[in-house]
Amino acid sequence: SFQPDHILRVTAQNYSQACMERYSVLVNESSPGPELRLQEDKVSWIRVYNDMEDSNVTMHWHGLSAVTAPFSDGTPMASQWPIPPGHFFDYEVRPEVDHAGTYFYHSHVGFQAVSAIGALIVESAQPPPYKYDEERIIALSDFFAKTDQEIEDGLLSANFSWSGETDAVLVNGQGRLSTNATGSCKLATISVKPGKTYRLRFIGGTALSFISLAIEGHDLFEIIEADGHYTKPVNTSYLQIASGQRYSVLLKAKTEAELEKARSRQFYFQLTTLGRPTVLTAFAVLEYPSPNTTDLTTVPAPPPLPVAKITYGWMDYALEPYKPDPNFPTSTEVTRRIIIDVHQNVSAHLVWLQSGYDWMETFPKSPYLVDIYTGKLDLDASYQRAMTSGNGFDNQTRLYPAKMNEVLEIIWQNQGAVNTGGVENHPFHGHGRHFYDIGGGDGLYNATENEKRLKGTHPLVRDTTVLYAYRSQTTALTPSGWRAWRVRVTDAGVWMMHCHILQHMVMGMQTVFAFGNRSDITVQSDPVDEGYLTFGGSAYGNVS
Ligand code: C2O
Ligand code: CU
Repeated sequence: SFQPDHILRVTAQNYSQACMERYSVLVNESSPGPELRLQEDKVSWIRVYNDMEDSNVTMHWHGLSAVTAPFSDGTPMASQWPIPPGHFFDYEVRPEVDHAGTYFYHSHVGFQAVSAIGALIVESAQPPPYKYDEERIIALSDFFAKTDQEIEDGLLSANFSWSGETDAVLVNGQGRLSTNATGSCKLATISVKPGKTYRLRFIGGTALSFISLAIEGHDLFEIIEADGHYTKPVNTSYLQIASGQRYSVLLKAKTEAELEKARSRQFYFQLTTLGRPTVLTAFAVLEYPSPNTTDLTTVPAPPPLPVAKITYGWMDYALEPYKPDPNFPTSTEVTRRIIIDVHQNVSAHLVWLQSGYDWMETFPKSPYLVDIYTGKLDLDASYQRAMTSGNGFDNQTRLYPAKMNEVLEIIWQNQGAVNTGGVENHPFHGHGRHFYDIGGGDGLYNATENEKRLKGTHPLVRDTTVLYAYRSQTTALTPSGWRAWRVRVTDAGVWMMHCHILQHMVMGMQTVFAFGNRSDITVQSDPVDEGYLTFGGSAYGNVS
């Protein structure tokens, strides 16, 4: 009989983090939830139970393409019906070949991913191209004192009320409240042995925080992976990591002699939030165990390291794939450019609009992918409408449809807020086939200028890159930064593309792309078990 390979149970309960009790959504009763290790090219069935009483849930395998099983992408009302209380869904998760790397999973419903989150590592049968002795996972997340419900209600209310800034940045679930930064709540410890080389896997699992990160006394590390793809090595003294991004770096641990010279066996990790009205500095501890050192995890942290400033365009045009990628589509292959303007507007309530489109207001009645399966949604007709409406958007279905083998350029254009002229940083995330990140800059996107800049570089395939606010203040609807992606449409399915800041998602900052049409959606196993088509069912939930 059918046995899932992994079981995740989602509950909502009181849980203590940063020495504060909060009603949180947990995976297997913890945050972060259990670490999953999957194999390249191997199907793992992951059963997710919704053990909550009054909320739906879905689980998304962030950074995995889901191209072999688009019904398992975990996007509510896009790829599937949300899982109601008391039900489960069986996800067919198959990491692609050459996608060994660092990922995470999280709920895709409301604000739940602030805590319903866990590390997902994809392993390969091949040895990694870089040598290291051991690895450590460093998963970053935010802690908000307000509950998910309070935050969602505030964001969607006619009397808009902001969630507030993050109350703590956590490392592997541990940290201190901003109001108690020098308090006694224990910090996370990353333990290493002298003289060894470590692969540190950083996971940007924050709800809101964009983070600059450095390690006291260890001012050099080497980036070897970004978003599940190995890169050519790039040296840096700090990382800048946004919600949804992942990096691996190699860190050479100090030798015994160096430790003696440093007169310490414990060093602070410093994490500083970027681009927000208030700056929060948080800490964790890198430790070389020894019986007689003071425990820095319980004492006040030192003054911050000087890495707290945002670097616009950090690593843009600089990170390159480990192996040259023969599939990168050149500008002459681009069939369509879709420009999505991103701005805030306050009308009845505060929303984030993308090309005038607010996801929350137009939430579909049944999931797009289900409607495509049943033939209720005809993507060819949607495509025709999108072609005549201008800019590739189908107003009727609220989709950006694309045909197989098109090469799209998707341009996120940051604009000043209608009411205040404010501009913010947005880490944009793409589901489905990863995109080539072809850069970003200030002002308005200029394809010719960017082509010049791209000459001789090899753009990296990524799934989350930052649309920067090159200026924080401007006048309404003034172009204030852009981010450009190029993607070849090879994988049919319904793929969300959205800002990864949870507040912004809740406020509507999400778009849906539909690639191919019904006949292009071929999956290894046919998910159209009757359960998948109805609320409360599962792709394989009825298999016993
Ligand atoms: Cu990690 Cu659609 O998100
Ligand atoms: Cu955003």
